[in-house]
Amino acid sequence: MIDSVLPENLIIVSGKGGVGKSSVAAAIAALSARSENTVLVTLDLHDEPHPVFGVPLRYEPTEVAPRLSVCRIEALAAVREYVRRKMPFSGLYETFLRGRIFRDFAEAAPGFQELMCLGKLYDLVTDSPFTRVVFDAPATGHLKMLLDVAQTTLAAVHVGPLNHNARKIQDLLLDPSRTRVLLTALPEEMALREAEELQDFCRERRMTVGPVVINQWVEARFSNDELNALLQLRGSAALTSAAGACRAESELAAVQTAAVASLARSQRLHIPRFPDSAAVHEKMIEALDRELRSRGN
Ligand SMILES: Nc1ncnc2c1ncn2[C@@H]1O[C@H](COP(=O)(O)OP(=O)(O)OP(=O)(O)O)[C@@H](O)[C@H]1O
Ligand SMILES: [Mg+2]
Repeated sequence: MIDSVLPENLIIVSGKGGVGKSSVAAAIAALSARSENTVLVTLDLHDEPHPVFGVPLRYEPTEVAPRLSVCRIEALAAVREYVRRKMPFSGLYETFLRGRIFRDFAEAAPGFQELMCLGKLYDLVTDSPFTRVVFDAPATGHLKMLLDVAQTTLAAVHVGPLNHNARKIQDLLLDPSRTRVLLTALPEEMALREAEELQDFCRERRMTVGPVVINQWVEARFSNDELNALLQLRGSAALTSAAGACRAESELAAVQTAAVASLARSQRLHIPRFPDSAAVHEKMIEALDRELRSRGN
């Protein structure tokens, strides 16, 4: 089902920090892996295990389920791999690439690491066993910088391999049939504003963007009449507090509905808040699948 709604080879998942990007990206990747050989890529610099699959994150993809692998892109490793693949007698550069001078240069040159990371993403999309790449991308601000780095390089470097690579990356990112930016937000003002900003940013560049995954969405379960009837009920203390909880939930649902009204022009997928933190991944897959099916019909 995912293929009819999100058919692109590269799906970039972003949004404000902490809104559920990694959870959504992992669920999208798991759905994709039902039919496509999929790799879920993160840019995390920390040496921590994958937040959803719990495996150590390495540069080389690690299989976590049939047709589903995870990996981490790291700029310096990407450059080393590039040199090994493209340069004759690449062994000659090994000492330099592992040395301090190279690391200092890579860290100081503006946009260099980002360009190398995008280069690795490009290779995964165009020259790897994977037919779909789901990128658990950095939060909005950093992603904007990342998406513009190829263009910035093209403006600064007019010939040579850097120009050539930046051109290929730019073509991939701006190709509406190959790349999509999927937004994630909580139904609250700041997260929605960031999602809208990123949406505008992508639209200005004519990138394929959306839908917006509204995570931790509370559905209004009672009409006003039902709620009033509930609140009129007189009985045990438990009944009174249950009615109060229903009212609080309805109020939250109303606040959320008002908050997402600004996204009227965008397609939305609603994912509920799951009470069992141990089952978020499975529940997220189910909920996303349901939402995608209803959009695909
Ligand atoms: N719908 C949900 N219901 C309940 N818990 C959720 C839901 N979505 C995500 N979570 C939990 O919220 C926490 C943050 O989610 P996640 O790590 O996916 O966010 P993130 O946007 O990737 O964060 P960061 O910006 O730090 O990378 C995780 O513990 C995750 O299990
Ligand atoms: Mg994350």
